[in-house]
Amino acid sequence: MHTTVRDMLGSEFPIAAFSHCRDVVAAVSKAGGFGVLGVVGYRPDQLKIELEWIEKEIGDRPYGVDILVPAKFVGSDEGGLAASRIDALIPDEHRSFVEALLREHGVPTMPHEMTRSRSTTFQQDEQRELIEVALGHDIRLVANALGPPPPWMIERAHEEGVLVAALAGKAEHARRHVEAGVDIVVAQGYEAGGHTGEIATMVLVPEVVDAVAPVPVLAAGGIASGRQIAASLSLGAQGVWTGSVWLTTEEAETHPVVKQKFLAATSSDTVRSRSRTGKPARQLRSAWTEAWEDPANPAPLPMPLQVHLIQNAWRRIEHGAHKSLGAERLINYFVGQVVGSMNDTRSVRNVIEEMVREYVDTMERLDRWAEI
Ligand SMILES: Cc1cc2nc3c(=O)[nH]c(=O)nc-3n(C[C@H](O)[C@H](O)[C@H](O)COP(=O)(O)O)c2cc1C
Repeated sequence: MHTTVRDMLGSEFPIAAFSHCRDVVAAVSKAGGFGVLGVVGYRPDQLKIELEWIEKEIGDRPYGVDILVPAKFVGSDEGGLAASRIDALIPDEHRSFVEALLREHGVPTMPHEMTRSRSTTFQQDEQRELIEVALGHDIRLVANALGPPPPWMIERAHEEGVLVAALAGKAEHARRHVEAGVDIVVAQGYEAGGHTGEIATMVLVPEVVDAVAPVPVLAAGGIASGRQIAASLSLGAQGVWTGSVWLTTEEAETHPVVKQKFLAATSSDTVRSRSRTGKPARQLRSAWTEAWEDPANPAPLPMPLQVHLIQNAWRRIEHGAHKSLGAERLINYFVGQVVGSMNDTRSVRNVIEEMVREYVDTMERLDRWAEI
């Protein structure tokens, strides 16, 4: 897997791993992959602590961060809205629906001190502060999803010698990212966990590779094994960008009830739903996604109103999932269709070693077939 991207990232393997969990990020980088910490929703002081911890763990091995700077959301024209203005835009009908849904499922209430008054507003000032904290550390790459990275982000990263990547669900988006100045495009297919478009990885990757050549492409969406890595490289990608597969590892801080649900799930058990963030995001199907899909109920609000609307409901669900069957029915998390192959809990190192072993076996098999 000695590709240009591997040299750009400086990792042993061109296997990037997105995770919100610092332990996973550090373990990936230590095992020869490239850990990427998802920092959406962090406070700058918190982010500083996490990045310092990661750097202490991994020494001089490379890692990166991913920040969600959406191009379009409610208030994006004004550089984002303050939380109080977002609150004022949430209809009472939606608040009542969420409250009734939790009541119907018998989700226990939560002590007031556990409720949260703050979630991300995607305000530009907040985002800039996070980027500055990240750039003050030894990161090798900063990635962005949901639109081209804003010019200030690309400029500041390049000033600090940091690579910029962006996720694309369409060749057209990838072209726009490259025009904006990104160094690496992540072509993320429909089957991926989290925010995702409508084109499958198998179709998307070669389209993006051709559209942005010679800019290198990482393939994402549905990649959890060495065979899938070999397929990605065959499609012209220079490496892979993974997310879901880490959620059931020993190091992942995934909610234990969700972890069990993931281990039991098949590849038919995910759905692309706006019910968590206001934009279509693939996640495990649950009583929560079903309630929001029911046309008799209110439709999810646009980003970031939906995030604000549901933040404390989700804390209640997560808090209650150990003791309430209703909360257990509602709880879910972002995950891709590859959840169907996530059937046991292994260490991050073990997952990477298995990916590499299977990749080598696959390449040898293809070599043998080519000789016949
Ligand atoms: C739990 C979860 C959260 C995610 N959050 C983000 C995010 O904040 N920013 C981002 O760029 N991508 C996010 N993604 C997408 C990943 O970066 C990655 O592209 C995707 O997981 C790849 O597909 P896979 O899930 O099939 O491996 C998320 C994915 C998952 C599973």
